[in-house]
Amino acid sequence: MTSRAQLAQHDVVEGVYLSASLDLPDIFGPETETRDGIRLYRPEDVPDPARIRFALAWNPAEDAFDAYPNIGLVQVIAAGVDGVLSNRSLPKHAVVARVHDKEQAAIMAGFAAWHVVWHHRQMGNYIAAQQASRWDRQTVKILRPPSAVTVGILGYGLMGQAIAQTVASMEFPVLVAARSPRQDEGRISCISGPGSVEAVAARADILINILPLTDATQGILDAGLFARMPKGAALIQLGRGNHLVEEDLLAALTSGQIGGASLDVFRQEPLPADHPFWSHPMVFITPHEASITSAPAVIDALEHSLEQIQAGQHPSTAVDRKTGY
Ligand code: GLV
Repeated sequence: MTSRAQLAQHDVVEGVYLSASLDLPDIFGPETETRDGIRLYRPEDVPDPARIRFALAWNPAEDAFDAYPNIGLVQVIAAGVDGVLSNRSLPKHAVVARVHDKEQAAIMAGFAAWHVVWHHRQMGNYIAAQQASRWDRQTVKILRPPSAVTVGILGYGLMGQAIAQTVASMEFPVLVAARSPRQDEGRISCISGPGSVEAVAARADILINILPLTDATQGILDAGLFARMPKGAALIQLGRGNHLVEEDLLAALTSGQIGGASLDVFRQEPLPADHPFWSHPMVFITPHEASITSAPAVIDALEHSLEQIQAGQHPSTAVDRKTGY
């Protein structure tokens, strides 16, 4: 029997929460309880592992899937699926689906725009001035008009597009590195294909990373890329921790090649208390919270994936397990 046929077999489809880092039942339990067609269990409460047809997952433990021979769908609770695709126990034939949520993209775009303003207007200076009760009008001295500040964006999926539109609406020229060619649109220009990341970085006064993490993008934010950027450029890192070579960023901040960084994701999360980023005056840290998907949106996505599978279709938000997005 195929996994898809197994999924279609029961009226109420049973699934399991799998995460080593988040309390998924706590976050999603109240919402799933309102849905008639699905039942989700914590692993320790699963009555019969063979009846489990799907998992709702976020960074599951390496052996998390081993107990469930009939999982046909792994619905990830977020946009990025690297933490599931790299899992050694992920069933070979399971469909892995992600969340594709416009509201999540809008929240991300607002967050990115806030950090663009933070770097563009050098807002840290105001915090320092306020602490010293100092009325220090500096915009007249330092402000470059937005039209003279290029914002580069690495990654042009749902999130990258939302960020590009928001930032372009603030009059910044936007240059995006995209997988496939795109028409230029207003202030948004696109570079695609090999070398596009380097070409965008070379012109970016503020560089935003929102790429998916794949074998090809591991460590992409490194000394070589920073060296191509205009001196004093800012980095806004919203992708995954493993995109960034952290020592290279520290060195580029010390040399002044990078003038400031906003970091939301890290190689080790939570970021260890003794990490040099915490106390670095040019680093702004947030704890992997640039955006969020609401519980109803995640469970809608899960139900939609299940419905598509039950109808014999490939879920529209399924990822290509080979390319990783
Ligand atoms: C968050 O990290 C996401 O992948 O959506």
